Amino acid sequence: MKDLYITIFGATGDLARKKIYKSLYYLYLSKDLENVRILGIGRNLLTNQEYRLLVKNSLINFSSDNIELFLDKFSFLGIDYSNKKSLYDEINNKFAIDSKAYFLFYMAIPPSAFQSSINLIYNLKTELPSSQIKLLIEKPFGEDLETAKHLNEILTECFLEDEIYRVDHYLGKETIQNIIALRFGNSIFEPILNNHYVKSIHIDLFESIGVEDRAEYFDQNGIIKDMFQSHILQIMTMFMMESPVRIEAEFIRDEKYKVLKSLRPIDLNQVKIGQYTANLEQNIKSYVEEDGTPEDSKTETYFEGTIFVDNLRWEGVPVYIRTGKRMSERKAEIRVQFKESFRYFMNYDEECNPKANELVISIQPEEEIYLSINSKIPGKGMCIQPVKLNFTYADSFGKTIDPYTRLIKDAIEGDQKLFVRKDEIEQAWEFVMPLIENKQKLLEKLIYYKACDEDVVF
Ligand code: BG6
Repeated sequence: MKDLYITIFGATGDLARKKIYKSLYYLYLSKDLENVRILGIGRNLLTNQEYRLLVKNSLINFSSDNIELFLDKFSFLGIDYSNKKSLYDEINNKFAIDSKAYFLFYMAIPPSAFQSSINLIYNLKTELPSSQIKLLIEKPFGEDLETAKHLNEILTECFLEDEIYRVDHYLGKETIQNIIALRFGNSIFEPILNNHYVKSIHIDLFESIGVEDRAEYFDQNGIIKDMFQSHILQIMTMFMMESPVRIEAEFIRDEKYKVLKSLRPIDLNQVKIGQYTANLEQNIKSYVEEDGTPEDSKTETYFEGTIFVDNLRWEGVPVYIRTGKRMSERKAEIRVQFKESFRYFMNYDEECNPKANELVISIQPEEEIYLSINSKIPGKGMCIQPVKLNFTYADSFGKTIDPYTRLIKDAIEGDQKLFVRKDEIEQAWEFVMPLIENKQKLLEKLIYYKACDEDVVF
């Protein structure tokens, strides 16, 4: 097995501490990271010991199995970007690199810090031509179409597309991956997932948390960029794509790209945006009272809009999107509503009538897929009520793998199925641009909603 060097830019940051170290530890425990050395890079000057302690503190909820052996694999490099020392020399001094090693660079840094890190990696690439390099890049990928294109230009000047792994962690969630199996591995669903049978699709991505300690980042972006441009459009394309030629990265991404290309420009009149206010009963601050948000901020924490995929399969089927922070529940799901045909069961009592069948893919908190069908309530004449035919991951498979663990493992193995391609990301930005360009107009109708309140209606 070749040596693997994982280098994390942004090693002391939020993402590394909350997600990356845990995932690396899972992979280590499952013996997927045997010959690995991990180098944390940051601007601070941590000693190796201090850095290992930081990593250890991120693993606080784990049993201490092999933890010290795992921590031994970590070293820290404080980088001064103005210094022209090569990354190769720095890494080589620490680890004596094997010239045929694998390198995985995790860019857990904001786009503004990108250029200098990319230069360092590119130089290393030229110094080690026979090594394999992979670059994992976290969102946000740009701030708009122009900056995303610029990032892509910087990247493609130095790297091949198959070396670039743009991360959208929702794609690593088990239920999202399972969409491929559900749609193309079940001959019963494929014939009905189209505009002949489907009335509407609803994609909800609700969080009960607020902006937590990322207010500064969030305030510059808002939920349209933070959730809609990325996670929601990715979930939507996974669900609505045509069958790929084969279940391989290029073919899947070709199909997802075509969905993005088929999107009708969004109707701004249908869009609603909102911002949460305090909930005193539950002791929850308003958005503008969060640490790091300006008190007059108009950044949106809720977004709602309707989109249409104008192709033969989906033409005319509205896709209703809603996403928000500080909602009354945490929920992420795709809900497909089928057309009704109930001529035999029109009861006088409205409650007893059949309801539209639904296929629901629940991403969280429950990981499950269910179909609602209409059933007669025992003993009550022909009174009908929807019931669930369901599958839960917990019952069938037990615990699922965390998305970051899945994605890092895939990147190590060179599988790009769950990563976003250059053209996809640019097309997603292109679709979202009218919302960004017309923000002022949308803000005229900014809705203030009470945080985590069940009675909120938009
Ligand atoms: C991130 C967003 O990409 O996803 C956050 O930047 C959001 O604002 C998070 O809270 C939600 O992810 P998950 O997996 O907790 O639903």
